[in-house]
Amino acid sequence: MTISGTTRLAGVIGWPVTHSRSPLLHNHWCARHGVNGAYVPLPVRPGALATALAGLAAAGFEGVNVTIPHKEDAFGLVTRRTHVAQRAGAVNTIRFEPDGSMTGDCTDGTGFIADLRARGIEAVRRAMVLGAGGAARAIAAALLDAGGEVLIANRTAARAEALTRALCGGEAVRWHAWPARLEGCDLLVNATSLGLTGAEGSDGAGYWVQCLERAPSALAVADIVYNPLRTPLLAAAETRGLTTVDGLGMLIQQARAGFASWFGIWPEADAETRALLLVTPD
Ligand code: ATR
Repeated sequence: MTISGTTRLAGVIGWPVTHSRSPLLHNHWCARHGVNGAYVPLPVRPGALATALAGLAAAGFEGVNVTIPHKEDAFGLVTRRTHVAQRAGAVNTIRFEPDGSMTGDCTDGTGFIADLRARGIEAVRRAMVLGAGGAARAIAAALLDAGGEVLIANRTAARAEALTRALCGGEAVRWHAWPARLEGCDLLVNATSLGLTGAEGSDGAGYWVQCLERAPSALAVADIVYNPLRTPLLAAAETRGLTTVDGLGMLIQQARAGFASWFGIWPEADAETRALLLVTPD
């Protein structure tokens, strides 16, 4: 890649940000589509987001992705938000406009739905979403807005209830009750940190096997965790012969809208892109 005076710039703001695969993905797309652009990791401490955004806008960046722990703060800092960001209560993609304003979008939920469609899951009539954090909210909002029914189960019940209120939709389900409520669902999504490498309970393969014992055979099972790619939940679902959706597709799909808004091209989300991300960076 040659960086010149006309190279367009974007990046990802996070803390920490060293684990992010977004630079690999976006720079691959720049090379593949002949875009004179570059995408860099931007480590920004909590509390420093406003300063960083103003500086990057002043320095001529096209825009940025925003990741943990800044997505909710970004929501409050942008000039305007898309409807989807409003529903998600978070912003993960910002475009710096020529007039100095900032437009904030949240592409996590739309990316998730786009990945389901890419895998042939066109419509979700009833979904069980596990979790009530930012990721769960974006996904539940997208599923509701696509016309589905959504059940939300969270370890801390009050957060699931708060989420249904914030979304004006969905039904909060007690954590211990979610396996029994899978009847009639066509999608199960794990949007908790369970299964994440190093997270509490990550060795709980037996837990998921037990939970899926009475799952309907037409259930598709998705996990937003992509490290490891084959999470204990997905392994349990495979054992039951259920369709599985790993977290890599959502990662790729959520990135496409940002790339398009900064660099003017909808990038590929094909097997080559996926293969690139399968190579673990560390
Ligand atoms: P994010 O915004 O990235 O989605 P978060 O707000 O930290 O992340 O949410 C993590 C989710 O994983 C929460 O729903 C959390 O449940 P609580 O609201 O009860 O904390 C869920 N989670 C984390 N560890 C869990 C565990 N051991 N068992 C069940 N749920 C867990």
